[in-house]
Amino acid sequence: MEPLLPRAIDGYLDDLARAEVDDPVLTDMERRASELSFPIVGRAVGRFLEWTAGLAGARRVVELGSGFGYSAFFFARAVGADGEVICTDGDADNAALAEGYLRRAELWDRVTFHVGDAVETFARIDDPVDVVYCDVDKEGYPDAWAAAAERLPVGGLFLCDNVLWYGRVAGLAPPGQDAQVAARQDAATEAVRTMTREITDDPRYASTLIPIRDGVLAARRVE
Ligand SMILES: C[S@@+](CC[C@H](N)C(=O)[O-])C[C@H]1O[C@@H](n2cnc3c(N)ncnc32)[C@H](O)[C@@H]1O
Repeated sequence: MEPLLPRAIDGYLDDLARAEVDDPVLTDMERRASELSFPIVGRAVGRFLEWTAGLAGARRVVELGSGFGYSAFFFARAVGADGEVICTDGDADNAALAEGYLRRAELWDRVTFHVGDAVETFARIDDPVDVVYCDVDKEGYPDAWAAAAERLPVGGLFLCDNVLWYGRVAGLAPPGQDAQVAARQDAATEAVRTMTREITDDPRYASTLIPIRDGVLAARRVE
């Protein structure tokens, strides 16, 4: 997918993030993602997630849609040696891959990985949860938000990727996309818009949308 920002800007932001955190394991994960066109968050967003969770003093992070552990790498750094990142994904192969990568990065001891539907798994996870990070299929965003909104404590964070959905939320079709593909995306686009509107309208949360890569939403529970 073409980035929303000019490639040079995306590259500049990724280079800055790489200067702060670099690891051959991340490079290997990025290679896999690129070869298989698997949608990871990338360096700049990964660093933003780590920085935000660190600022919130998060000790327990739940990821809804972990893929093979790339975003979890950053959260695992943020929570520290005594913290916990609880990953979820519907694909058991991703769990095995994540274990391999995160063991190599010496971060696996702070990670648990559940295979199954993310929101159903989340319902079985004990409190406290300081951060919920949402990156499931876009049609699932409203349900993910509904589950997280009730569970997070005051000061807790809901973080969500792809909230610009490559411009579709603002009526922009990604360049080169044919009409049939665009039509299939309508339900996903509406789900992203619905969730974002619900967050914005929820007086318990103060939120902001950061337009890096495909847009990251950060909502902090204030009441
Ligand atoms: C965009 S990828 C996640 C990428 C990951 N957060 C990263 O940046 O490294 C989305 C992942 O969520 C998983 N997924 C999508 N919908 C799901 C659901 N409802 N329950 C569990 N996993 C889901 C997919 O299998 C896929 O691995």
